[in-house]
Amino acid sequence: MSNRRSTTPIAGQKPGTSGLRKKTRVFAEPGYLENFVQSIFDAIGGGAGKTFVLGGDGRYFADRAAQVILKMAAANGAARVIVGQGAVLSTPAASHLIRLNKTDGGFIMSASHNPGGPEEDFGLKFNAANGGPAPEALTAAMYDASTRIAEYRIVEAADVDLSTTAERDLAGMRVTVVDPVADYAALMETLFDFNALRALFKGGFRMRFDAMNAVTGPYAREILENRLGAAKGTVVHATPLPDFGGMHPDPNPVWAHELMEEMFGDTAPDFGAASDGDGDRNMVVGRGIYVSPSDSLAVLAANAHLAPGYKAGLKGIARSMPTSAAADRVAEKLGVAAYETPTGWKFFGNLLDAGRATICGEESFGTGSDHVREKDGLWAVLLWLNILAERKETVQEILNAHWREFGRNYYSRHDYEALPVDVAERIMAGLRDRLMALPGRVVQGMTVAAADDFAYDDPVDGSVSTGQGLRVGFTDGSRLVLRLSGTGTEGATLRLYLERYAAGTEGLDEDVQAALAPVIAAAEELAQIRGISGRDGPDVLT
Ligand code: G6P
Ligand code: ZN
Repeated sequence: MSNRRSTTPIAGQKPGTSGLRKKTRVFAEPGYLENFVQSIFDAIGGGAGKTFVLGGDGRYFADRAAQVILKMAAANGAARVIVGQGAVLSTPAASHLIRLNKTDGGFIMSASHNPGGPEEDFGLKFNAANGGPAPEALTAAMYDASTRIAEYRIVEAADVDLSTTAERDLAGMRVTVVDPVADYAALMETLFDFNALRALFKGGFRMRFDAMNAVTGPYAREILENRLGAAKGTVVHATPLPDFGGMHPDPNPVWAHELMEEMFGDTAPDFGAASDGDGDRNMVVGRGIYVSPSDSLAVLAANAHLAPGYKAGLKGIARSMPTSAAADRVAEKLGVAAYETPTGWKFFGNLLDAGRATICGEESFGTGSDHVREKDGLWAVLLWLNILAERKETVQEILNAHWREFGRNYYSRHDYEALPVDVAERIMAGLRDRLMALPGRVVQGMTVAAADDFAYDDPVDGSVSTGQGLRVGFTDGSRLVLRLSGTGTEGATLRLYLERYAAGTEGLDEDVQAALAPVIAAAEELAQIRGISGRDGPDVLT
């Protein structure tokens, strides 16, 4: 029987900030997944003779999707697919396997931090041979292929047993089922001082790692509890569940509130961390102190040399545009380049490949380095632990010292979720239309220094990405940024990013929202988010 099935294009198969994300029931519609997977093969010039990695965060539908992808890889002529046992791989572990095995790329089944289940979200993204998310030119080619597709290829075969590690055969294609954790854990051992970390835990250091019923549970248990000797039970919500046990696996103060309560309670351990659905995000909390992702990036960059993998120093530091400028101050002091890219990890890939940056980070709870081409939640936690072990100070002490040295970039993000698309677009258009006239104007007592719609010229490949967010900077270093999320699946999510710089040494320990009050007021005056949307305030504050 022929491997070819005729099909017709399905509208809307356009990858967003991080792959194609839709409601699970949309992905499960006949031909939906198949069309997109074939579009990926078509966009990369076919699968013949190639090797790929396949895995995901274990969410609902991933088991079935994995079988479809395997059968389509075989029909497209792939030579081999390396699959995580149970079709599970964290996103950073998948990135590592792509690189380690010098494969032609990989398929990652995840909708990241979005909830999972039959009524929730599913996603698929393709990472290229460097281990990083497909760049914009490639995602555009996938979308283009999806609009012209006439047939897809799939072999008729029994499902492949992915339940144990083994070499298997699928219609002539090799399927290698691997332990999802082993190679990743080995990589971490090369970067961090595991002896120092073992000594830290042996000395009574206590931590809590909330895996949010998502993919990092097995990774964190193996590394923190088994290899580093953290107390049993350090990792909570450690069993990955197809619906994340109903949790919203997004490590921020709102969704990881159990961890927040613990870290601000009387019996708080020394250190707390959480990760997201597919293990690439992280949130870090000290005893009684929340570390904003922008500050975390700056502290990690300033102290990375304390870990063996980074003792030679950093080549450069990259952050996404909406991330605070705290990391830029560190780059300046270290005398290395600072890069500002659009939101989306894919934009760091070229800088990392070209050896221009070593550490990257985003306000959206992502930090990572050149060890893989994805952000990496556990990596960030281990680097923090390595720094804590070397400095022998608390998280609070380290942050205080950092702010005294560099000044503090007060920072917060206000999200307005599930707005009607036309309302969100009206708000964006309203501010966009006013940008040109803003420089020199005084708003809430602050003078606008510059205002634009951010465009990025990639210094490595010369590509230009426009329309990446509206930004208004003030002469005192304050800034507000407005952009539409590219990862939602319901309506439009508007993100307002707020920043104010305090040079210190006074005024370094104000309440964040209070410190930002003038910038918040300026944003409302300029963009009228509440006014136009009729909302009382944001749904999520980070
Ligand atoms: C994903 C991407 C990140 C991005 C984040 C927020 O996690 O990997 O690079 O920063 O989504 O994207 P959004 O478009 O929702 O603000
Ligand atoms: Zn993620």
